[in-house]
Amino acid sequence: MKLPFVLAKRFVAGESFEAAAPKVKALNEKGIKVTLDLLGENVEDRGMADEMVANYIGLLENISTVDRMESSISIKLTMLGLDIDIDYCRTNLFKLLDVAREQDQFVRIDMEGSDYTQHTIDLYKDAFREYGKHVGIVIQAYLHRTKNDLTELAGLGADVRLCKGAYNEPEDIALQDMSKIREAFKDYMKILLDKTPCPRIATHDDELIDWTRKYTTDQDIGPSRFEFQMLYGLRQETMEQLTREGYQTRIYVPFGTMWLPYFKRRLTERKENIWFVLSTLFKK
Ligand code: FDA
Repeated sequence: MKLPFVLAKRFVAGESFEAAAPKVKALNEKGIKVTLDLLGENVEDRGMADEMVANYIGLLENISTVDRMESSISIKLTMLGLDIDIDYCRTNLFKLLDVAREQDQFVRIDMEGSDYTQHTIDLYKDAFREYGKHVGIVIQAYLHRTKNDLTELAGLGADVRLCKGAYNEPEDIALQDMSKIREAFKDYMKILLDKTPCPRIATHDDELIDWTRKYTTDQDIGPSRFEFQMLYGLRQETMEQLTREGYQTRIYVPFGTMWLPYFKRRLTERKENIWFVLSTLFKK
């Protein structure tokens, strides 16, 4: 049974680029940049993966033709065939990055569940060698392996979005305790701020936002050296306030018909989000 889109509209900007575009422009007008995510994951056949590459390329082209739209894109490698074959996935990623480089755009590779971490980092490093500033990666603070990964990526000067991690991982793979995840997040932010040009701080958590503000002020690190990122539909007022205070801000705006897994992750990570969904249903 297909659930109606109205359920997801609190977190998903629309089922098409045309539906999402006015929301992106409205954010841009407030000085907030965007990263567009054409939703979907785990494509299992080459026909579908080829179609996704074409769709992502179409998305880059759409962004560049809409007047003054300030948006990069975020992608998942399982959409480009990572479950099929790693070399095929690399070829698809490079096809997309050829267009991104031609159009001076930016593609961020989202991080998926821990079965994909090593391949995602390997493919990112291949892509970074070839496409440099046109590609970035996401690192999850909750993984035990992150300390090593982050040190290596920071040494390369990678463009990293740091988040806590959204997948259900077991104890031997990921920290489970929120205070430990927050401490790890802060340690990793320090490394990124020290070694990389512009770390992206992806969280809605006041403790981490306040910590970042204080740490960067104390260390005399200006607001142009990092960026706050949040998800569409969550804490927009906070983003507007941060923007007014002169911080760089970006909202991750998902759209598309394959919204169900993303929507489920938002509901399971925070019980208040269930209330948001219900309240949206009753709004005109
Ligand atoms: P969390 O849900 O841990 O909440 C901590 C505290 O923050 C709450 O107790 C509350 O005080 C405050 N808070 C949180 N949400 C709030 C709200 N809506 N209103 C008011 N207060 C709130 N994950 C992944 O595995 N791979 C990826 O590629 C990405 N990409 C990504 C991009 C961006 C831009 C963001 C913001 C997040 C991701 N994530 C992700 C998701 C991330 O890993 C994580 O699951 C969520 O951001 C939830 O963690 P938080 O730190 O935001 O708050």
